[in-house]
Amino acid sequence: MASTFFIFLLSLLIFPCADPNYIHKTCKLTNHYHLCLSFLNSNSTSANVVAHGLTLIMISVGTANATATSTYLSSQSLSSASNYSALKRVLKECADKYSFAGDALQDSAQYLVLKNNDYVAVHATAVADYPNACRNVFNRFPRLIYLSEIAPREESLKEICDVILGILEHIGWWRNDFLNFRCFVCV
Ligand SMILES: *[C@@H]1O[C@H](CO)[C@@H](O)[C@H](O)[C@H]1NC(C)=O
Ligand SMILES: *[C@@H]1O[C@H](CO)[C@@H](O)[C@H](O)[C@H]1NC(C)=O
Ligand SMILES: *[C@@H]1O[C@H](CO)[C@@H](O)[C@H](O)[C@H]1NC(C)=O
Repeated sequence: MASTFFIFLLSLLIFPCADPNYIHKTCKLTNHYHLCLSFLNSNSTSANVVAHGLTLIMISVGTANATATSTYLSSQSLSSASNYSALKRVLKECADKYSFAGDALQDSAQYLVLKNNDYVAVHATAVADYPNACRNVFNRFPRLIYLSEIAPREESLKEICDVILGILEHIGWWRNDFLNFRCFVCV
């Protein structure tokens, strides 16, 4: 009896840090399970954190993703292949939108630290809208066709934001603190 109780206490202490299914369970809560899993599994920190830390990792993923798209669009804008000046301008504007998106995501990390998850959610929602702003810039020029290379990048940034929102929705801070404390104890 006493040993059962001891095992129970022990499992409280090491769970969920040692729970190999924690990331899997968290990603199940989002609309993009595979994307969530692949990004979280590729960051070694993810094994030692709970929902709050996983959100932070996804924020860093999203920041990198938006920044990469911004860099790509800037280089396209500068490339000699796009000599048509309207396209150059549109690509530059789109590069700016994705750059703002990256900045906004990076800013949201500080609200996560302050445990203001409503603010993080507001930021993530706004970030998901920047790709639409880029699309709208294209729409202002009827002769320009939205580049097919942008669509998958647009999609991935939106999906990353959606994953962030999905995880946030299921965070209860008191519970998260408790789990973090247990992780701290067992790591
Ligand atoms: C892992 O995630 C953290 C945020 O928690 C980030 O600072 C770090 O750069 C990420 N590492 C890699 C290899 O992406
Ligand atoms: C952004 O997301 C796309 C789709 O998931 C992926 O192919 C690409 O490598 C990502 N870029 C970065 C910098 O994470
Ligand atoms: C774009 O301009 C550069 C330099 O002015 C020129 O060498 C190149 O051939 C042009 N490219 C196209 C696709 O018109």
